[in-house]
Amino acid sequence: MKEKIECIGVLTSGGDNPGLNPCIRSVVRTAIQMGLKVMGIHRGFEGLMDGEIEKMDTRSVSNILGRGGTILGTARCPRFHDPKGRLEALRTLNRHGIEGVVVIGGNGSLRGALELSRMGFPTIGIPGTIDNDVNGTDISIGVDTALNTIIDAIDKIKDTASSHNRAFLIETMGRNSGYLALSSSIAGGAELVLIPEVKITFDEIVETIKGAYIGGKSHCIVVIAEGWKPGTRELVKKLNELKDELGFSVRVTQLGHVQRGGGASAFDRVLATRMGAAAVKELVSGNAGNMIGLVNGIVLTPLEEAVAYDKRISEDLYELAKIMAK
Ligand code: F6P
Repeated sequence: MKEKIECIGVLTSGGDNPGLNPCIRSVVRTAIQMGLKVMGIHRGFEGLMDGEIEKMDTRSVSNILGRGGTILGTARCPRFHDPKGRLEALRTLNRHGIEGVVVIGGNGSLRGALELSRMGFPTIGIPGTIDNDVNGTDISIGVDTALNTIIDAIDKIKDTASSHNRAFLIETMGRNSGYLALSSSIAGGAELVLIPEVKITFDEIVETIKGAYIGGKSHCIVVIAEGWKPGTRELVKKLNELKDELGFSVRVTQLGHVQRGGGASAFDRVLATRMGAAAVKELVSGNAGNMIGLVNGIVLTPLEEAVAYDKRISEDLYELAKIMAK
């Protein structure tokens, strides 16, 4: 390996989010401004193994700041967990003269970045996932936009819920993480939030919905994280069996992938731009093996630590949600 990095690659991996394009743009423009060559790797680690790589310039990232998705494409890539797949990746990087790589993605993608790094390849990570479950950063790219999308939906659902005196179960994304559900329940003024990290009995749920009705509320909004068990479907089934006891009739909205689409919020555009620029600078300064984060400014966390466990939910935030729901 040469002492000075002259050519870097950038890839987006795992579930997409609206902050990816602003981040790619920042990586490309920062690198070019620093005199580096930049290669775009398509479809994440899949494309890395299959050699789907092309040179990027300033114009390749024009007009993408407000565009959702990722111009590089993305993929979930079990093949990369296989040592043979990783060897293919190294071979491709070598063939294209890439000497360092920026990986933008969530926990799984950052684990891939760690594998590359362990093989001695200069790699730096950027947390990009709407789940906000990556350690070493207060917030990941895409979270703010997803939250704004959810709030918009909750506000609209509340209008119709109030008109009809209904309870709504609104399911957000978050397979293992309740961050989106919890934050949106506070920002959207929900009566109850159900997340994988906190146990709650069916009776407590029924009491809350009934309590909202008896307390004179015109609606009851229950925000549920996708990963909460036993799940939204099971809950609605059981609630419908108690129809006459609840006061409100119950409806369900699963927000699904709309949470991952759309143009990035101003916050996400700035965050993505800052993290992308920092990643390039740290990579060429010899700080590979780390992830960029935001904790009172830009910070570095070893990739190993960043993926060691999923970030925990703040208990204070959960308590706040309960107080505000009264
Ligand atoms: O990790 C981001 C995320 O949106 C999770 O919240 C969700 O569980 C998962 O991805 C869905 O993945 P897919 O789009 O592959 O179905």
